[in-house]
Amino acid sequence: MPHRLSWLFLSFYLLISTVTLTVSAQQQVVLGSTDPDLVYLPSLCNVSNTGCFSAWQIYIDFPSINGTPVIVTSTTGPIPQAGNAIPQLFLTFRASTLYLRTSPLSNATVNFSLTADPSGVTITKQINTNISQLIIADNLPESQTTTLGVTFLQGVSSTRFDVESITLNVTDSR
Ligand SMILES: *[C@@H]1O[C@H](CO)[C@@H](O)[C@H](O)[C@H]1NC(C)=O
Ligand SMILES: *[C@@H]1O[C@H](CO)[C@@H](O)[C@H](O)[C@H]1NC(C)=O
Ligand SMILES: *[C@@H]1O[C@H](CO)[C@@H](O)[C@H](O)[C@H]1NC(C)=O
Ligand SMILES: *[C@@H]1O[C@H](CO)[C@@H](O)[C@H](O)[C@H]1NC(C)=O
Ligand SMILES: *[C@@H]1O[C@H](CO)[C@@H](O)[C@H](O)[C@H]1NC(C)=O
Repeated sequence: MPHRLSWLFLSFYLLISTVTLTVSAQQQVVLGSTDPDLVYLPSLCNVSNTGCFSAWQIYIDFPSINGTPVIVTSTTGPIPQAGNAIPQLFLTFRASTLYLRTSPLSNATVNFSLTADPSGVTITKQINTNISQLIIADNLPESQTTTLGVTFLQGVSSTRFDVESITLNVTDSR
């Protein structure tokens, strides 16, 4: 009998603009890219902090069409000023589905890994963030704590990895 997490599949969905409002047992929690629950290595620099060097930068994306500006975190890979540390992102959560939204500019390949605790089951998948703006991990075991780890992989040419937000589907306990 396989562990539940091993059934998990990570898939890419092109964004479909249809939004259906239905009564659902699922609640969504949206974490912006600078939410303190998101742990960046090396640490994110606050733009107002001039002496800070990090492979992770914050920028504000002003959509060309109408829409509200989005705070995006971005990396183009290790930088010597931050000890050439490989850029990583971590989040520990409990949810059945995780949606990571990148920016339209994101084109790096990353290792996307999920580890469930206490079962210890880990899956890692290489994902080219150029393909879709949304990375979806579903069928996650809500009875366990899951840790997401995203690791930037250096390509032959220069690439970037951007994060706009992470959305979690959690079961509504009402
Ligand atoms: C996540 O929650 C949203 C909003 O409740 C729902 O539309 C969507 O189908 C859920 N996703 C999954 C995989 O259950
Ligand atoms: C940056 O620092 C300023 C002053 O401490 C603070 O008001 C602001 O919220 C910080 N911005 C981010 C993105 O953390
Ligand atoms: C990416 O994941 C693969 C396994 O899928 C592993 O062999 C490789 O070392 C990982 N790379 C980094 C930089 O973590
Ligand atoms: C990203 O997608 C564009 C358009 O499909 C393509 O021209 C480009 O080569 C892709 N880049 C990578 C790194 O796959
Ligand atoms: C990735 O995007 C950056 C910034 O938009 C661009 O300079 C670079 O050429 C792109 N790399 C590939 C491999 O598509």
